[in-house]
Amino acid sequence: MSESTSIHGQWSSRLVFVLAATGSAVGLGNIWKFPYITGEYGGGAFVLVYLGCILLVGLPVMIAEILLGRRGRQSPINTMRMLASAQGVSPAWSWLGWAGVITGFLILSFYSVIAGWAISYAWETFSGTFSGASAEEVGDVFGTLVSSPGQLLFYHTLFMLLTMYVVGRGVKQGLEKAVTILMPILAILLAIMVGYALAQGAAAEGLRFLFQPDFNAVFQKCTEESGTQVCTFTREPLLVALGHAFFTLSLGMGAIMVYGSYMPSNVSITRAALMVVAADTVIALFAGMAIFPLVFANGLEPGSGPGLIFQTLPIAFGQMPGGLLIGGLFFVLLVFAAWTSSISLIEPAAAYLVENKGMSRPLAASTVGGICWVLGIGTVLSFNLWSDYKLFDRTFFDLLDYLTANILLPLGGLFIAIFVGWISKRHLSESELSLSPGLFKAWWFVLRFLAPLGIFVIFLNAIGVV
Ligand code: PHE
Repeated sequence: MSESTSIHGQWSSRLVFVLAATGSAVGLGNIWKFPYITGEYGGGAFVLVYLGCILLVGLPVMIAEILLGRRGRQSPINTMRMLASAQGVSPAWSWLGWAGVITGFLILSFYSVIAGWAISYAWETFSGTFSGASAEEVGDVFGTLVSSPGQLLFYHTLFMLLTMYVVGRGVKQGLEKAVTILMPILAILLAIMVGYALAQGAAAEGLRFLFQPDFNAVFQKCTEESGTQVCTFTREPLLVALGHAFFTLSLGMGAIMVYGSYMPSNVSITRAALMVVAADTVIALFAGMAIFPLVFANGLEPGSGPGLIFQTLPIAFGQMPGGLLIGGLFFVLLVFAAWTSSISLIEPAAAYLVENKGMSRPLAASTVGGICWVLGIGTVLSFNLWSDYKLFDRTFFDLLDYLTANILLPLGGLFIAIFVGWISKRHLSESELSLSPGLFKAWWFVLRFLAPLGIFVIFLNAIGVV
């Protein structure tokens, strides 16, 4: 194998890397998860903390993760093993790669179920179910879907097959085209939704909720219990904001590392990272601006949880002119956005199986996809038959979501920061990033001190130490 390219191929330009990484970053995290956790944790102040985490932790760690990938040019497991021995430290660093593979499995298992909701909603919207529907009727459609294990399993299976198909063919083919055309259309549709929500919804209230920080609200978690809002004190929001910064940028589990390993050597890592972070953040804020004006205009509860977008957007689709078409298209594109994310969730594992076990790509993709599919059944059931089985007060789905986003991804990010900031020789990063000395110093400082310390302190806060 030559030193400067991966056996799995290489992106054809910076633009393609940026598109693929943006495809990975922009997904359900932006459009489904960001609005509902913002709703649960009280709005503006949470958004502010989240943006801080993106800038001070997410961006520097993303640069570090791409850097490792491009330096190693292999699956994260082999990359970490190789780079660790090159620096004369224990090959046990390959565990960082393994942890990422496991995290990717866990995330994809529930990600696929939620993407399945979007497939079902594309279908329902096109076929007119939401035409003129009231908030209550829209809510019932959601309730019926999640209470049916059969339907959820069907759509989960469909989505997993789509994912395995692309990973089996090699991430480059197909993906390049899909992201170049579909991602921009999704952004445009989302912009239309923002326009509609601001014009027809409770714009002032929605924007105030999203952008006016109320720090008293941050440490309160509000949920709806039989029609009334119940708020309790919680230490979670800082951790959830940090975890979501990792989740939404696809950081800390090797997805961005493996994409970095296909990045041509002459491309600027920092510029690419900046573009991905900017695109991801804009899409998330758009989603919030499209949803909260509708939430307030329809008397819905911002903290109603994972169903939030599925219970609000269809109301607008059912009322606006051409809404069924726009809405159907919106959900189709949401499925695409989820698809370009899900393939990056199993690419690290698939690349490893091809490298080390000599598997063909289709076999590697089916193996990992199969494991995630089986795990996903737990999430399917957690919304209905198992909804009463709770561990630490969480259902199977809640548990997976919490464990991956709030613990495993930030830990992965912490170790990436430590490896690049403290173990790798400084001059390696310096020459690879070719930044101006001032900028390099700033990144180096943030990566070595601020980001790791931030993650550490937020962890301590979550367990009640600070
Ligand atoms: N970033 C994706 C999203 O926001 C999810 C993801 C997480 C993808 C981790 C890859 C790795 O939907």
